[in-house]
Amino acid sequence: MNDLRILILAAGKGTRMKSRKAKVLHSVGGTTLVGHVLRAAQPVSREVFVVVGHQADEVKASLGDVLFVEQKEQLGTGHALMCAREALSGFKGDLLVLPGDVPLIRTETIQDFVRFHREGKFDASVLTADVPNPYGYGRIVRRNDNEIAEIVEHRDASEEVLKIAEINTSIYVFNTPLLFETLTKVRNKNSQSEYYLTDVIGILAGEGKKVGVWKSPQADEILGVNTRQEIAFTDRAMRRRKCDALMSEGVTILDPGSTFIDVDVKIGADTVVYPSVQIYGPSVIGEDVTIRSFSCITNAQIGSRTTVLEGCIVDDSKVGEEVTMGPYARLRPGVILADQVKIGNFVEIKKSSLGTGSKAMHLAYIGDATIGSNVNIGAGVITVNYDGSKKYPTTIEDDAFVGSDSQLIAPIRVGKGGFVAAGSTITEDVPAESLAIGRGRQVNKENRAPHRKKKKL
Ligand code: UD1
Ligand code: CA
Repeated sequence: MNDLRILILAAGKGTRMKSRKAKVLHSVGGTTLVGHVLRAAQPVSREVFVVVGHQADEVKASLGDVLFVEQKEQLGTGHALMCAREALSGFKGDLLVLPGDVPLIRTETIQDFVRFHREGKFDASVLTADVPNPYGYGRIVRRNDNEIAEIVEHRDASEEVLKIAEINTSIYVFNTPLLFETLTKVRNKNSQSEYYLTDVIGILAGEGKKVGVWKSPQADEILGVNTRQEIAFTDRAMRRRKCDALMSEGVTILDPGSTFIDVDVKIGADTVVYPSVQIYGPSVIGEDVTIRSFSCITNAQIGSRTTVLEGCIVDDSKVGEEVTMGPYARLRPGVILADQVKIGNFVEIKKSSLGTGSKAMHLAYIGDATIGSNVNIGAGVITVNYDGSKKYPTTIEDDAFVGSDSQLIAPIRVGKGGFVAAGSTITEDVPAESLAIGRGRQVNKENRAPHRKKKKL
């Protein structure tokens, strides 16, 4: 939108969170509160400023490429705006103000609000909402149906005012020069000794300026997060919204209520997500994938037509197409599975790659290994990659077969087509196409079995 700048308030501590971390850095749906607000704002204007103060460096680092304004001491929302005077000097257009703690706000709502402000030719506009529980919010005190008299903070409100259900969302549009002129008239005579931005609205209304009030039809979007309870509530709402968007794009989500998917996750059409699945970070899931219950996938790529059975944990890994995995498989960071790999139950893999069609179906540990294609890793196989101080690599070339319950003491190589007999402890490289047997020879002693009491049946 032309001639519009945006200012996001993100300098406060967020005392009610009782956290060492600044409130706006807490996450819902896998992204910080202020990150969500910024994402909603960026399509509306190219000039977005963020006011930072408490833990300024951390907040800046979390946001990247925007303009920052410093509020060294946090003396209230009005004071935060005063700190932006210099950054906005000479700017004559509209300033949209957003609090950094309304993660559910949508771009469309912001645009509708600015349009309302402009069409009504207002000097300032405030976005309000009727909410079932207005506790804690500033209340909109109206002069009549169309006009606002002032905004009164919950802490400063009388019994009468506390009954008002229409609340201030902290989302405003101001004529910029008029805003800064009015801010000079704001005093801090209130229960918190803070300079309230809300007072600007009361002052402008008192001076007979045209103040627009736009009641949001979507009251749940403007929920401000101040407490851990509100984190939980908005997180749920955000994830429900994400599931709805994915379902609209052709993903089956059997139980959105128990499915936790971060906002940055991408999932292809015809993928089926069973109840109680969690998918976090910027994970990318292909088409026609099946993800069964209790699997937890973080920062991973999963190729099309792959099946993730129950209870798999996949972290920072890349899984090809038509793979089957689980139940109860664990991929730790740095795993690359090529197409058609099969990973069975209770298999742990770390920082390793498996080539096309290779299999590890039962109870194995594969760490720091490079495994070719069409390799069979038997039940209970262990790559012994750690000697107590250092980690060593294992290489298993194409078409090799590692028999059950073998240990490969790294660094070690099994050549192409090599065959390790079951129960072997392999300490030397196995040449290509060779059979390696590394186990004690069996001795049978006739009639020497110890006597055991026979159970009566
Ligand atoms: C504010 C409004 C209240 C409204 C509510 C909506 C005021 C005085 N009150 O109250 O009317 O109903 O939002 O959610 O404006 N911040 C700064 N610098 C400061 C203080 C705050 O940048 O000195 C930032 C915070 O980081 C936060 C935002 O401003 O992102 C709002 O501050 P917060 O303390 O949450 O205000 P509320 O008490 O919720
Ligand atoms: Ca708030």
